[in-house]
Amino acid sequence: MAVIVKQLHPVFVGQVTGVDLREPLDEATVAEINVAINRFGVLVFPGQFITDEQQMAFSRRFGDLETTVKVYRKDYVSRLDPHVADVSNLDQDNRIRRKDDRLRLNALGNRLWHSDSSFKRVPARFSLLSARAIPTEGGETQFADMRAAWDALPDRTKARLEGLICEHTQLFSRAKIAFTDWSEEERVKMAPVPQVLVRAHPGSGRKSLFLSSHAGRIQGMEEPEARMLLMDLMEHATQREFVHTHRWTVGDLAMWDNRCTMHRAREYDETQVRDMHRTTVSDGKPTVAEAA
Ligand code: OGA
Ligand code: MN
Repeated sequence: MAVIVKQLHPVFVGQVTGVDLREPLDEATVAEINVAINRFGVLVFPGQFITDEQQMAFSRRFGDLETTVKVYRKDYVSRLDPHVADVSNLDQDNRIRRKDDRLRLNALGNRLWHSDSSFKRVPARFSLLSARAIPTEGGETQFADMRAAWDALPDRTKARLEGLICEHTQLFSRAKIAFTDWSEEERVKMAPVPQVLVRAHPGSGRKSLFLSSHAGRIQGMEEPEARMLLMDLMEHATQREFVHTHRWTVGDLAMWDNRCTMHRAREYDETQVRDMHRTTVSDGKPTVAEAA
């Protein structure tokens, strides 16, 4: 089976056809997908009516899967396997969550630009998101190319950013939408983790900005200055020329590289079901070497 990749945006994003992700793939096909994701950062595979089992099997070809943390509180009961993140507006009984549901409010944070699991010391490498049910309008996912964003920075800014270490936690991202309903235990578990601000992307040899709404501090910098710098960089990195909007069709599977892209969900009519399932491949190592 020949894998066909068509570029969807001037600087990144490929659409992949000619492959059935429900079937076990041979090494050559996985290698072709690796080449494509290294080049394009985001791949969209249309027409993949995949089960959770098949999605986990495909994802595992690229590394170990993360288990979902969701919101750490003990009251969370998932409908899905621990390796599948429930990115839907449904509760464990498949009912649409109420407006004031804590998990719904927390999940609104997905509408802030981010890189998955940047709040974990070992962040995500790839995320794979499949559309099982979608609303009639809205609910798109947007992607931003962090290698192109890096390339477009003035040399003076690049020099200033190299070597900086940020601190990321969901407490910072959720504070941006005034979500503060955490238990003491959760706050402790969500202590900030260090992440480099500039990454070398192994699959392409290119440099990339590592931004995420979870970032809130920069080591060795006053907080207002750090916040301003992060906001300026966010604004720069999410300009139109670096952003692609994916309008979902049921059966689409999107795979993205969290090391060199950001993404966010868009608003939709939440009286309709939006059911998306995500598997996440861990990057396997921290971006900052463990303190000696
Ligand atoms: C995710 C995510 C965005 C969306 O699954 O990691 O941020 O559009 N999803 O649901
Ligand atoms: Mn995400």
